[in-house]
Amino acid sequence: GEDELDARIRAAKQTLGDRVVVLGHFYQREEVVRHADYVGDSFQLANAALEHPDAEAIVFCGVHFMAETADLLSRPEQSVILPNLAAGCSMADMADIDQVEDCWEQLADVLGPLDEADADGRVPVIPVTYMNSSAAIKGFVGRHGGIVCTSSNAATVLEWAFARGRRVLFFPDQHLGRNTAKAMGVPLDRMPMWNPRRPLGGSTAEQLEDSQVILWHGFCSVHRRFTVDQIDQARAEHPGVRVIVHPECPMEVVDAADEAGSTDYIRKAIAAATEPTTFAVGTEINLVRRLAAQYPQHEIFCLDPVVCPCSTMYRIHPGYLAWVLEELVAGRVQNRIRVTSDVADPARVALERMLAAKP
Ligand code: 13P
Ligand code: SF4
Repeated sequence: GEDELDARIRAAKQTLGDRVVVLGHFYQREEVVRHADYVGDSFQLANAALEHPDAEAIVFCGVHFMAETADLLSRPEQSVILPNLAAGCSMADMADIDQVEDCWEQLADVLGPLDEADADGRVPVIPVTYMNSSAAIKGFVGRHGGIVCTSSNAATVLEWAFARGRRVLFFPDQHLGRNTAKAMGVPLDRMPMWNPRRPLGGSTAEQLEDSQVILWHGFCSVHRRFTVDQIDQARAEHPGVRVIVHPECPMEVVDAADEAGSTDYIRKAIAAATEPTTFAVGTEINLVRRLAAQYPQHEIFCLDPVVCPCSTMYRIHPGYLAWVLEELVAGRVQNRIRVTSDVADPARVALERMLAAKP
């Protein structure tokens, strides 16, 4: 039962002490998050991994790309453990390295050599990948002068990229790319989409030449479910409601909301509200429920009444957490996530560019 698992996890953590650090993403279920030494968004958790060079093991309660990132940023002797190897991210899986390499070749056919800078020192395209992507993709980006972003620094990173390239190729999340670029003043007709299943991504050569941001055809299956109708309904039923959504939501939803921001932005906006307020939130249900419990002075609900949790985040069941911790106690490392050095070196370059990019 749940109590027994809880006791097993506590006991194993106590035995391991400082030898292990447990990281938990905001979208993890309550029975897991309560055991995390750090809870945060993907950017904060990447930093938390950096800040624990002495821990032998980093147990990452999140999804596969996050554990890979932690492995890139941690020391080689440290093992990063993903309690359930089936916890992937469907969005990250939408940009596969072969498709991205193929896209790059096709873009070179249209735009000319992609590593040649023009008179103002800018290359034709800078690749930008959302943190929610495989290490292989981050490595690709690092090898081609590009950078990683998260939902909390996407605008800063796009500015970095526009200073170095005439265009940006943004993947995997079309919505984060579109919402961020639009807020920076990039017109929609200069953001063609790249669908990897079509020649030239389904755009024309002219559209690609004239583009400022080329958007990869990827999305988050949780955030794309939110609708403008849900926002209209929340406003009708709760006059004065503050609507905050994650930038992985479609553009019309972000436009209809009062604010959009990363999971940590949402948390801070609610924490900073001094007057009792009604918040309708467009993000994953576990985070919304936790915020509602944490801030009882406010009324906080999820925009989607029948929202399902992120099904892959949910694969980190406390039973797996207990298992990997008990194995560590027994001296065995299970479910280690390791990025090979051919990928890790350039991927680290792309991540370090992100960590150094200033607003
Ligand atoms: P952040 O934690 O960066 O806001 O991202 C949300 C998300 O979808 C993580 O997978
Ligand atoms: Fe991936 Fe969306 Fe789940 Fe985040 S919420 S892990 S982007 S599927």
